[in-house]
Amino acid sequence: MCGIVGYVGRHRAGNLMLDGLKRLEYRGYDSSGMAVLTANGLDLVKRTGRVKNLEEALTESQLGGSLGISHTRWATHGDVTEANAHPHLSSDGKIALVHNGVIENYLGMKKFLVGKGYSFRSETDSEALANLIAYHYAKEPEESGKNRFLESVRKSLQHVEGTYGIAVICTDAPDELIGARKGSPLIIGIGKGENLIASDVNAITHCTQNVVYLNDNEVVHLHNDDFSITTVSSKNVEAVIHQVDWDTTEAELGDYHHFMEKEIFEQPTALENGMRGRFSDDSSTAVFGGLNLSPQELRHVDRILFLACGTAWHACLVAEYLIERYARIPVEVEYASEFRYRNAPLDKNTLVFAISQSGETIDTLAALREAKRKGYRTLSINNSVGSTIARECDGGIYQHAGPEIGVASTKAFTSQIMLCAMVALYLGRLRDLSYGDGVDIVKALKQLPELIRDVLGQSDKVAAIAKQYASYEDCLFLGRQLMFPIALEGALKLKEISYIHAEGYPAAEMKHGPIALISEKCPSVFLATSGEIFQKSLANIQEVKARKGKVICIATEECDIPEDLIDDLILVPECHEIIKPILMSIPVQLFSYYVALERGCDVDKPRNLAKSVTVE
Ligand code: G6P
Repeated sequence: MCGIVGYVGRHRAGNLMLDGLKRLEYRGYDSSGMAVLTANGLDLVKRTGRVKNLEEALTESQLGGSLGISHTRWATHGDVTEANAHPHLSSDGKIALVHNGVIENYLGMKKFLVGKGYSFRSETDSEALANLIAYHYAKEPEESGKNRFLESVRKSLQHVEGTYGIAVICTDAPDELIGARKGSPLIIGIGKGENLIASDVNAITHCTQNVVYLNDNEVVHLHNDDFSITTVSSKNVEAVIHQVDWDTTEAELGDYHHFMEKEIFEQPTALENGMRGRFSDDSSTAVFGGLNLSPQELRHVDRILFLACGTAWHACLVAEYLIERYARIPVEVEYASEFRYRNAPLDKNTLVFAISQSGETIDTLAALREAKRKGYRTLSINNSVGSTIARECDGGIYQHAGPEIGVASTKAFTSQIMLCAMVALYLGRLRDLSYGDGVDIVKALKQLPELIRDVLGQSDKVAAIAKQYASYEDCLFLGRQLMFPIALEGALKLKEISYIHAEGYPAAEMKHGPIALISEKCPSVFLATSGEIFQKSLANIQEVKARKGKVICIATEECDIPEDLIDDLILVPECHEIIKPILMSIPVQLFSYYVALERGCDVDKPRNLAKSVTVE
């Protein structure tokens, strides 16, 4: 949610952290701050608004120090003010801390610390931890033989209830940086003569490709040239260094105006990368390297439970249709946030599948842990190599869609659907799906990148249509069967980036309520595909038209739609049913993007939203 970057080394910490913060800004963007240890002591700068406001406020000397911590915030406790922005200093000025997560018992901590003479400047939970570390630091005997700073962090964390990813520095320890995590992601970047802490790999790939993923309840102690990891209760932990092979230019904007635009147009390549090497030699099924479940074990699965949040949850709804249809396995889809607090009875042959672009969404992670605790096999589909969800599942499938920076998910969504289609194919072929049907599906999937390019070729037309609808304040998205989740996703995209009230509904359900909204002031986007239910969709369009509602229809080419029934039409190539949800998503994404542009909205950083939600 919020972003953390910390640095200890010989170079200009401020400059490197600023670069990192810019790469993390999509994680939270209401305020940011930096604390750097310079020749003049601890220098703290915080600003509300975007990272560029912080950049403008930083001086040469602040940028030049070689130990520091920094943060970009998405408010949880307290308003968006400079006082509430991180880093937080202890009231004795010795400790500076940045924190992601929520400290649930901070009020009790605060009361205790006020009693001990510590004072508070902000309304945040995080400041309590900075003061608690200072309290323990002051109490720790100088000559205990232990590192005083490290001990005080460990002791303080033993009192924390809630979640944290933290980076801490101390004015008495000019070459020490400490980090710790519980429930909020934190990684360590290992450089030459320099080490970093960050909440996200993306923030440090400009400095190093060698990373260590910290686990819950671990504390890392970093110097320029070395680091050690222990648990909060002082047990040594052996670090495993991973190499991230990210092309750092992938996270840059290039010639595009927005990351959302870039990511929409990257979909042919993102999907190509996700399917590469994942078809059998006879092109009749999919193959996955990392499921860690044998075909025999998968044949015994008699129910699949999908868990996710947001857009990934919509991808799960598509998976439900596809897996039930092609593999004949019953599927259920749950909001992760609901599942984790429900004591849902599951059969022992249930397979639990979590879908998450970031692999860090706290509700998805917690639901997955709950499923694991009950002994179920867990798999995941996610886009971030080494993410917590990927590491904690029994196996999984990486999306390989490349970094997604735009807060509104686009390429990650279509890539998740594609992988779900491939899972449906794989599971189907382990059961009753015929060789011929398998071959047809593989052929369709291989055509996808080209077909998406065709649809993207119509972007000017979609932009012109979007322009006409940008001033409306309500909109419905309607579709049947496989198009219902795409309708939900269309409504979500439009509301999150253009702030237009939008609802997605199964087209036939419209009659049970939303039809009351229809008037010349509320247009409907219909998603219609050829096939057995096309005539039914047409009837639903008529119902809207009869009530003076404008209709934008996105349809596959063979749909025969009377011109007088619709106001605007966008056609996508006719194709195999299994890839229709993906192709139909492209105009929906373009439509939302161009509407938001027309309304002058900040497309990549919509108000109140964060890319990765790591608090409950
Ligand atoms: C946030 C993002 C959404 C995303 C959802 C789940 O709400 O704004 O775009 O779909 O989190 O994220 P995940 O990383 O788990 O897919």
